[in-house]
Amino acid sequence: MKIIMLGAPGAGKGTQAIKISEKYGIPHISTGDIFRANIKAGTELGRKAKEYMDQGLLVPDALTTDLVVNRTSEPDCENGYVLDGFPRTIPQAECLTEALEKRGEKVDFALNVDVPDENIIRRMSGRRVCPKCGATYHVVYAAPEKEGVCDRCGGELIIRDDDLPETVKKRLDVYHEQTQPLIDYYENEGCLVNVDGTKSLDEVFTAITEILGD
Ligand code: AP5
Repeated sequence: MKIIMLGAPGAGKGTQAIKISEKYGIPHISTGDIFRANIKAGTELGRKAKEYMDQGLLVPDALTTDLVVNRTSEPDCENGYVLDGFPRTIPQAECLTEALEKRGEKVDFALNVDVPDENIIRRMSGRRVCPKCGATYHVVYAAPEKEGVCDRCGGELIIRDDDLPETVKKRLDVYHEQTQPLIDYYENEGCLVNVDGTKSLDEVFTAITEILGD
């Protein structure tokens, strides 16, 4: 099963993608996580990506597309994957469609997690992440058992560099301009499904599993 997560920054794509990955036993491929891992490791890709991410801008397609297309051809992707944060522009989507067509494959579901901008601002201001294992929390909606400490690995939770209010506003503008057109793109491809992302974490996941099946 090949799944794409669509939705604004902070809509809950990552939260749901992790649950999908666990339930269906397919890899979770997050471009944001790949870039953040490269920033942490001090690679050239990380250095270049950080310039854009800190400003709330998209990393250029040239640095992103091949990375993901190659990742989806690795052996653990044989039974599918959930792409989180890719594609994010029409050229990225076209490259993915073309690469899949060459392999005789296609996207099965493009899940659009729909959340209005005002909820997004609230979610982003409360998000905390674990830099050690990548787990995501929210101070109100998904609080860790002990404040500031990761339930999974005991790491110290931090606020993401790009979750500052000004950067979040910029990311939302960029989303509406460059990523939202993908909703029509995947509607035309016949695989778009809208999910109401304003519901609770568990309710959103239940809606998704009803779409994906057992
Ligand atoms: P990325 O890491 O992909 O960030 P994003 O798309 O902006 O998405 P987020 O991770 O911010 O949010 P999310 O939708 O996953 O929400 P989450 O589950 O965490 O990308 C970061 C940057 O990398 C980009 O800005 C860009 O620069 C670059 N980049 C990445 N991919 C790229 C690409 N393809 N091309 C070019 N550049 C690229 O949830 C948010 C919060 O809400 C959490 O606190 C969570 O606990 C809470 N929450 C989740 N669901 C619910 C719910 N139902 N109810 C209440 N709270 C909830």
